Formats: sequence, structure tokens, C-alpha cells
Amino acid sequence: MTSFLRPLAYRHRWIYDTVTAISSLSVGGVERLRGLGLEALQSRLEPGGPVLDLCCGSGEAAAPWLAAGFSVTGLDLSPLALSLAARRHPDLKRVEGLAENPPLKDESFLAVQLSVALHEFPRQERAQVLRQSLRLLKPGGWLVLVDLHPAGPWLRLPQQLFCALFETDTATAMLEDDLPSQLHQLGFTAVRQELLAGRALQRITAARPSSDTASS
Ligand SMILES: C[S@@+](CC[C@H](N)C(=O)[O-])C[C@H]1O[C@@H](n2cnc3c(N)ncnc32)[C@H](O)[C@@H]1O
Repeated sequence: MTSFLRPLAYRHRWIYDTVTAISSLSVGGVERLRGLGLEALQSRLEPGGPVLDLCCGSGEAAAPWLAAGFSVTGLDLSPLALSLAARRHPDLKRVEGLAENPPLKDESFLAVQLSVALHEFPRQERAQVLRQSLRLLKPGGWLVLVDLHPAGPWLRLPQQLFCALFETDTATAMLEDDLPSQLHQLGFTAVRQELLAGRALQRITAARPSSDTASS
């Protein structure tokens, strides 16, 4: 179930941007939120290499990667979001498609980013998105995902309110799941989880093994 505010926020970008600005205060503001993926991986990656921002929306979390000189591809299912991304971030290569079945070649990217997007998927599709991320990474490449985590006592109520107003049931379902274990099971290695913003947010980095037998 979802409230009437969610489609409204996606239709009117100022609502989406305002909600993001308010909810990102706990992590230090919207710029910090958007930069969490780059911040975690920049030192591990060859400068200028190919990076995929899966479910890129209007490209706000791809922007720090572009500014740091990476060659960034953004994939999203929404033509509206992608056309906004084209206006805001002209250097972003844009692909319209499903994250569960991205029309992109195996082993194309040094890094795959999933910024506040995984909670949009039901469990099975979520696993499929993660399997596809593994397929798209070069051996030794890195996944970074930033998403909701069950908040500590101070932010539990605001998080529940946020989920009820702006998220779907898939977000609540994801809060019950142990993403680091799932990543291990899917074949990722070096899985590391950090809890941020009063535990309301998790940042996970995980690698595709250098020589592996993982398949999509
Ligand atoms: C909450 S937004 C996050 C956007 C961006 N990653 C950011 O950090 O600002 C989630 C995005 O996921 C996209 N999305 C949802 N389901 C998708 C799917 N099955 N395949 C591709 N994109 C999808 C939506 O269109 C939306 O742009």
C-alpha cells in the first residue's frame, strides 16, 4: 500500500527534492547523501573508469562521480527522470531500462552504485537486481549501495512516518532483511556495512571476486 503523496512527489520534482532535502538532514545534508557512494569507493577505483548508477533517477547521485571524472552511465525505467537527468547532468550516459534486466554487457563496470533505490523492489526482484549488478561488474569491481536500515530509537518514528507517506511495502519488507548476508549468498565478497544517520541508513560495499564462478 502507498499513500497519495508518493505519486505526487514523483510527478512534481520540487516535492521530491524537498522531501529528500529534509530526510537527508540526519546524514549531513543532501550533498553528503548523494556523495556517499563515491566517498566509499573513490580511493579503490582507477580514476576515470566506467561506473554504473543503477536506478539513477534524475542523476543526483551520479553527479559526484561525474565531477570526480568517472565515466558514468545512469539506468532508470522512467523517461521523465532521464530527461531531467539529461538537462541537469549532460555528461551522464543514459539508458532507459529495467534494473532487473539491464540491457548492458557483462563485466562492463568498475563500480555499480544503487543509491536509495533497492527498497523499491520486492524481495525476488531485489535479488535479481543484485545478481545483475554482479554480472555487470568487472572481476574485482565494487558495488556500493546506500539505503534504508531500521532506525535507532531517536529516528524510529520519523522513519516509520516517512515510509508510510512516501514509500511502498517493499521498503518495509527490506527493513526486515539482512542485506549483507544476501550479498554473501549471491557471491559478493568483502561485504562491509556501515550504519549512518542514527542507524536509519546503511551503506554497504561489496566486491565481485577477482576470479569467480558467479553467473547471472
Ligand atoms: C528513490 S529514486 C532514487 C534515485 C537516485 N538513485 C537518487 O539517489 O537520487 C528510485 C529510482 O528508481 C527507479 N526505479 C524503480 N524501479 C526501477 C526498475 N525496475 N528499473 C529501473 N529503475 C527503477 C525510479 O524510476 C526512481 O528514479
